[in-house]
Amino acid sequence: MREVQKTWGGRFSQAPSQIAQEFNASLGFDKRLALVDIEGSLVHAVMLAQQGILSAEEAEQIRRGLLTVRQEILDGRFPWREALEDVHMNIEARLVELIGPVGGKLHTARSRNDQVATDLRLWLRGELEGALADLKALRRVLVQEAEKYLEPPLVLPGYTHLQRAMPVLLSHWYLAYYEMLTRDAGRIADALRRLNECPLGAAALAGTGFPIDRHHTARELGFERPMRNSMDAVASRDFALEALAALTIGQVHLSRLAEEIVLYTTFEFGFARLPDAFSTGSSIMPQKKNADHAELIRGKVGRVLGGFVALATLTKGLPLTYNKDLQEDKEPLFDAVDTYRASLRLLAAMLPGLEWNPEAMAKAAASGYALATELADYLAERGVPFREAHHVVGRLVRYCIDRGKELSELSLDELKSFHPLFGEEALALTRLENAIHRRRSYGGTAPEAVRAALAEVKLEVGS
Ligand code: ARG
Repeated sequence: MREVQKTWGGRFSQAPSQIAQEFNASLGFDKRLALVDIEGSLVHAVMLAQQGILSAEEAEQIRRGLLTVRQEILDGRFPWREALEDVHMNIEARLVELIGPVGGKLHTARSRNDQVATDLRLWLRGELEGALADLKALRRVLVQEAEKYLEPPLVLPGYTHLQRAMPVLLSHWYLAYYEMLTRDAGRIADALRRLNECPLGAAALAGTGFPIDRHHTARELGFERPMRNSMDAVASRDFALEALAALTIGQVHLSRLAEEIVLYTTFEFGFARLPDAFSTGSSIMPQKKNADHAELIRGKVGRVLGGFVALATLTKGLPLTYNKDLQEDKEPLFDAVDTYRASLRLLAAMLPGLEWNPEAMAKAAASGYALATELADYLAERGVPFREAHHVVGRLVRYCIDRGKELSELSLDELKSFHPLFGEEALALTRLENAIHRRRSYGGTAPEAVRAALAEVKLEVGS
């Protein structure tokens, strides 16, 4: 009989097959939990000693051993062994190698089930806090850009159905994304609040006979409280699912911003130019400058949503409590978090370098009959039912199209021939500035409304 060295090898008489062992191993990706795993173990060991489950001397040996392990990991000289399956068993086995059999006492009153659930919460908490910081930096950039283009105000066409609809301030456009990203931050903060409970001490699934103090470990690890139900503690992953949902929505928002950058930097739109440092060339067409990074941000929604779908699918219908399926929770989560945070940082670096082309934007905003609604409003303000006014101006637009004219090129007589109520002031309405200035309603695009919004959001991001 070959010797079986697995931690759990006691009841086994056969070594695992190589192919089975490789399939089972998670070390390749859960290494990432090493530092939080040690953090949890340090707190666990102190608690065991406080409760008289370990002697003070044993706990101290374990503490020193864990610190050595941590240093080895930080220095990149930790002897990772895939045969030991996962990060938890690698660390424990190394601890025993370093300090002898007393290292084996660390696992008293806990199981890998509560251990991995704790590790993942600790890891995700750190990452979500990091994502909130990244997000704040990007929100601050959006506010700065909004401010940069407010005096004098840069105008671009606002679109519905990607057809020119009404002119808007570029600052207003930036602040629209600011609002979306602020709600994303709210969703991440909500997920953070709910995930901050401690599974440690739930042990395998049913709690333990040892007199542990779960409140102590929860507190020391920065959790609000220990989780109330041991089965829930080891079985549930909705904390990760909720985070993935928040990140998916966040990445969807980034994809919309990215898409507009792709569009606006085309020759067809010509509203903006990407800085060279944030564009790429074509290997065959010398004239090309591509918005690869923005396209990638757009495309990466697939993998973030994919992470959500993967975790929802793998937890669906899973019986309580821990099942090895749950080992599959990590890669999608890691990948989604990395993707989202990298996208945030990329955009924050890229946006300030966008060079807007005020002439092209204003020209597009003023043409294409984007100001037709002004004329309809004019008639409506003078008592013509809006539906009828809409119809009159519709005919007017067709008249212009047939003659290749812009609304601003119409004479007063021409206007009057469509409706007798048209007067001198109507002519002024077909000028861009007037249209913008009139949209003073709360949340509208008039400079004074945007200025008021900007003052509020500056306080929010502290800039
Ligand atoms: N590597 C495992 C995971 O990530 C750790 C928990 C293993 N628990 C068990 N009962 N086999 O899920």
